[in-house]
Parts: sequence; C-alpha cells; structure tokens
Amino acid sequence: MYMVRIPGELETFGAWPIEGAETRPGETWVYFSSQVVAKGFARAHGGRLERARWEVDLAYQKTWTAKPVGDKWWIAPAWDRSGTPPGRWRLEMKEGLVFGAGDHATTCASLELMERLNWADKRVFDLGSGTGILSEAALRLGARLVAGCDLEADAARMTHGRGVLAAHGPSMAFRDAAFDILLVNIPGYVHLDLAPEYGRLLTPTGTLLLSGYYTWQAERIEAALPGFEKTAQIERGDGWVASIFSHARPTASSVAIS
Ligand SMILES: C[S@@+](CC[C@H](N)C(=O)[O-])C[C@H]1O[C@@H](n2cnc3c(N)ncnc32)[C@H](O)[C@@H]1O
Repeated sequence: MYMVRIPGELETFGAWPIEGAETRPGETWVYFSSQVVAKGFARAHGGRLERARWEVDLAYQKTWTAKPVGDKWWIAPAWDRSGTPPGRWRLEMKEGLVFGAGDHATTCASLELMERLNWADKRVFDLGSGTGILSEAALRLGARLVAGCDLEADAARMTHGRGVLAAHGPSMAFRDAAFDILLVNIPGYVHLDLAPEYGRLLTPTGTLLLSGYYTWQAERIEAALPGFEKTAQIERGDGWVASIFSHARPTASSVAIS
C-alpha cells in the first residue's frame, strides 16, 4: 500500500482509483494499492509518495467458509474440503491483499449476472481483474478466449495463474481490441473516467457487464455510457449494483447520411 501526502485539504479525487483518504492537520493523506498510480497522483497534486505504514489485518480471511453464489458457483477457500455440490463449479477464494476473493457483494453479483449470458465462442476482457475470479468463471462458462488487465502487478500475476492472458497496466495497452464481452467491476467513479474505453474494447454488438457501484451512482454512470442500453440490473449487499448493457447497434435513422 502506498500513501501520498498532499499539502492542504483535498476536496475531490477526480477519477483516481484511491483506496482511502484521511484529512490530517495541514495535509491530506491519500492511499493507493498501485505504486504507479500513486506516483502519478503525487506528480499531479504536488504531493510526496511514501510506503503506507499501516498494515491491513487479513485475519478475517481465516473465517471464510464455502458458499453458493447464483445457480452455478461454489466459492470456497483453499482449505475447504466440503466438496462441490452437484451442478456447481468451484471457484477458489485467494487470500491476500488483491481484491476479488469472492467475499464481496460486487464480485458475487457479477458472477450471478454472468450466468445469464451466452459464452459460447466469445472473446472476453476482464478489466480490473483482481484475483482473476471473473476470468476463471468466463472460462468455465465456455468463453473461447479470456484476457484481462489490472493496475496491480500482484493481481495480473494471480489472474495469469488462472490460465488467462493478463497484463499489468491499463486496458489502453490492448490496441485494436474487439471483445464480445467486457467485465468491469471497479469503483463507481472510475467507470466515469473509463466509459469511452468500454466502447473501444467491445465489438459493435458486444456486451458490457458492470459492477462496483452503488444504486445512487447508477444514473450518473449510465449517463456516461451513451452507446449502451441496459438490459438487466441486480442489487446485492448494501446497495451494490451489477448491470448488463448491450453495445447498441446503430439504427438506420441514427446513421448520418452525407
Ligand atoms: C473491485 S476490484 C475487482 C476484482 C475482480 N474483477 C472482482 O470482480 O472481484 C477492482 C480491480 O480493478 C483494478 N483497477 C482499478 N482501476 C483500474 C484501471 N483503470 N485499469 C485496470 N485496473 C484497474 C484494481 O487494482 C482492482 O484489482
């Protein structure tokens, strides 16, 4: 974890993927999981980059127990020997700091919505793959190809470990992309920044599965997706949303004739 000390009080963080912030006398401390992003933020705000001194207590992960998610999944920690119930696929919960073990409502809601899509022969991109749990689920569901990326090196490595082509860095590195399904479970304010990227990564008839935001953020995020039409939405946990959007094919009347 990295911390950037900014002189004075910072009122807005824009689209930066921060992990948290604290107001201290005369300065603001802003936390990042990615060193690259923290460096960029420090440069943009005239701040000083440091290694965060506090440690995250991961003891709660020892209390994980296996659980069903949706109709198809069985999310289980590595040490669980309960056996996978018939008709379900086991996805292993990975311990550590990387997000996406399967214990968060946004991950579970994404897995649940993934069951509604047709995966046969599909090319899939997992933007912000975390532990790679959604990538592995896409492979299980029959996707032809799954690629992903994450700003966190550990996340890219873990995703790669699940048999996925995963890059450490932003999605912009994937040029000439044409994916059929795009999975994006990242914090709400980051969707606002990345929205144009979703259209670029998808084919003109592709499908976007979004999560990571609250119901109160949905309207603003949907407004940032003009080329998309929402076809499904579920809410889980404390108001977390996961939605499916179609990349709307242009209609005859919307095509400009010169
Ligand atoms: C909420 S986690 C989701 C992990 C996993 N996909 C899941 O559904 O559980 C979001 C992940 O996106 C990554 N991330 C945030 N902003 C990103 C960006 N602009 N490009 C790539 N990865 C990003 C974070 O490092 C984090 O691992």
